[in-house]
Amino acid sequence: MMFPDQEVILNSLVHPVFVVAADGRISFVNQAAEQFFAAGANYLTARRLGEIIPYGSPLLSLVEQVERDRNTTSEYEVNLGTPRIGPRLVNITVSPFPEQTGGVIVSMQENTIASKMDRQLVHRSAARSVSGMAAVLAHEVKNPLSGIRGAAQLLEQNANEDDRELTQLICDEADRIVAMVERMEMFSDKPVKRQPVNIHQVLERVRKVAEAGFASHVRILEEYDPSLPPVSGEFDQLVQVFLNLVKNAAEAAERQGGEIILRTAFRHGVRLEVPGSRAKVKLPLEVSVQDNGAGVPEEIQPYLFDPFLTTKSDGSGLGLALVAKIIGDLGGVVECESEPRKTIFRVMLPMQEEASE
Ligand SMILES: Nc1ncnc2c1ncn2[C@@H]1O[C@H](COP(=O)(O)OP(=O)(O)OP(=O)(O)O)[C@@H](O)[C@H]1O
Ligand SMILES: [Mg+2]
Repeated sequence: MMFPDQEVILNSLVHPVFVVAADGRISFVNQAAEQFFAAGANYLTARRLGEIIPYGSPLLSLVEQVERDRNTTSEYEVNLGTPRIGPRLVNITVSPFPEQTGGVIVSMQENTIASKMDRQLVHRSAARSVSGMAAVLAHEVKNPLSGIRGAAQLLEQNANEDDRELTQLICDEADRIVAMVERMEMFSDKPVKRQPVNIHQVLERVRKVAEAGFASHVRILEEYDPSLPPVSGEFDQLVQVFLNLVKNAAEAAERQGGEIILRTAFRHGVRLEVPGSRAKVKLPLEVSVQDNGAGVPEEIQPYLFDPFLTTKSDGSGLGLALVAKIIGDLGGVVECESEPRKTIFRVMLPMQEEASE
């Protein structure tokens, strides 16, 4: 088979790609980039980047930075809009040309992560509303319940066989409500004790618990970057996060040949805008849980992290809401990417010293 030449390939891409040469002038644009800038290649090439994007645009400093450091760097949710092309939110990756003294290649993707971040905002406010509710519930429900339970136990002592069944029912149901309230209580805003945590020890614990119980039918594979620096957080909370993700993965994985992949990676240069602050933060620590199940049904994807959303007959729908809450408190982000046989929940966290700043 004949392969088309590289320019044809570049021009078939839906993502804008262009090259900024060492002298700062644009030396190549693909067709998607021409469309993006609403100008032809003849106009764009030989112009300086600063002439076609707004003054002070983060893309300019990004290109300068990559020229200098020679490391591939990404920035999410950059507004490259001009009066001519309108508002345009893009994710940008700038890479140096390998083995050359200058010049960078810029590729852009419109809006995907940006829309995920919007969703993240919603998840957090949802989790927050639960945290207020949890505190109220814990206070207003648990104490009277223990009173009811105690009263039922007193009655039980003098009750006949038939009535004893009823007092037992009261105790059991009271216990069930307490257990649920306790789960909700995990949402309440307790101050977190941050410590350097080795995420691989967290995952090891999660794997052991999972294999001994709910994930005994699936294979758990590990793809770890052993040089990953510590996460700033609380060991038990991080175990809770990944237990929830692995439990969901095990429940979704194929009955036969079910497989879960735990993965850690260090991502240079991933910068995200996190709700509540205008500054972009670096979230280079990535921990993900992948399964080969049927995938997240499309209609629930926008609400995935909302509390009480569940498709399971015995689910509470609190698992992912709790994950979003804990990761949000740690200054990180969680997102989901799903297709049949490949669902990935990706947790991105800040480096320890940045988090404590
Ligand atoms: N790995 C996955 N694959 C497919 N669907 C998933 C996956 N993880 C979560 N979901 C979907 O998201 C819903 C919400 O998950 P969440 O963990 O919040 O609650 P749950 O698992 O239903 O209940 P609980 O966690 O209390 O047992 C699930 O009911 C399921 O439909
Ligand atoms: Mg769950």
